[in-house]
Amino acid sequence: MMNKLFFFLTNNRFSNAILIFLKLDGWMTNKFGIYKRIRINKNLSLQEMAGFSNTPQINEVLYKTHKDLNDFIKQHTKKGDAILDIGCGAGAYLKDFYLDYNCTGIDVNIDMIDRGKLDFPTVHFIYGNFLEYPFKNKFKLIYCISVIEFIPPSKLDSFFKKIADNLEDGGYLYLNYPPALKKEDLYYPDLYYIEYTPKSIEKSISKYFEIITHEHAFDGRKFTDYDPKPYGNGERIFKNAYVITAKK
Ligand SMILES: C[S@@+](CC[C@H](N)C(=O)[O-])C[C@H]1O[C@@H](n2cnc3c(N)ncnc32)[C@H](O)[C@@H]1O
Repeated sequence: MMNKLFFFLTNNRFSNAILIFLKLDGWMTNKFGIYKRIRINKNLSLQEMAGFSNTPQINEVLYKTHKDLNDFIKQHTKKGDAILDIGCGAGAYLKDFYLDYNCTGIDVNIDMIDRGKLDFPTVHFIYGNFLEYPFKNKFKLIYCISVIEFIPPSKLDSFFKKIADNLEDGGYLYLNYPPALKKEDLYYPDLYYIEYTPKSIEKSISKYFEIITHEHAFDGRKFTDYDPKPYGNGERIFKNAYVITAKK
């Protein structure tokens, strides 16, 4: 019943605007957000657990994302450094680093965490909400792939502040997110799956970081508001992603 109400309210552009105005967007997402409640089939692959199908098109984009993240991490860290994956799912990206780095992953979904612990016993997996978890140690690098669409507008600044607070001085951030694809997204975000504008992400991140790069994850294009030429006619597909890298 409450789930249905959540989906109804967060998919309606007008009720979204009211929830954001009343600052109830964070409360709604925290209480009823999709990933907190979904129970996952443990026979799926790591990428399927995270909601990505196993098709040649998706695999092409995932391959590029893994390579870009690997290159960034190799460029800015040394083996053994502490790395955090926010919204790590079952460890689809941690699997690239856990042998060489001191890896931590945090996720709000217990099924994801349980599966990650089985596959990667040396990773420190945390079941919790990144926005609330009291980390004890700082990280050299923090990355976050396809998660910010679940961080409500009223929490966006505190999300980036928390990343900065938990990074060593001179530490790095790598963030992959789905940008706005339509003009309406600028005025009425869909709280169920928020497509932030590159302009709003940059405004928030630059309060705490020096930006290194900010561009389309797949083809390197740059836009500030919404993508004028999205792939798949503007469908919510992983190919329509943007990446920002930054230094504390
Ligand atoms: C689309 S999946 C992406 C998983 C993984 N990063 C990947 O790309 O394979 C989004 C993940 O973010 C997690 N998540 C959403 N909000 C979170 C929060 N506030 N703190 C920690 N994890 C969160 C969800 O539980 C989910 O596993």
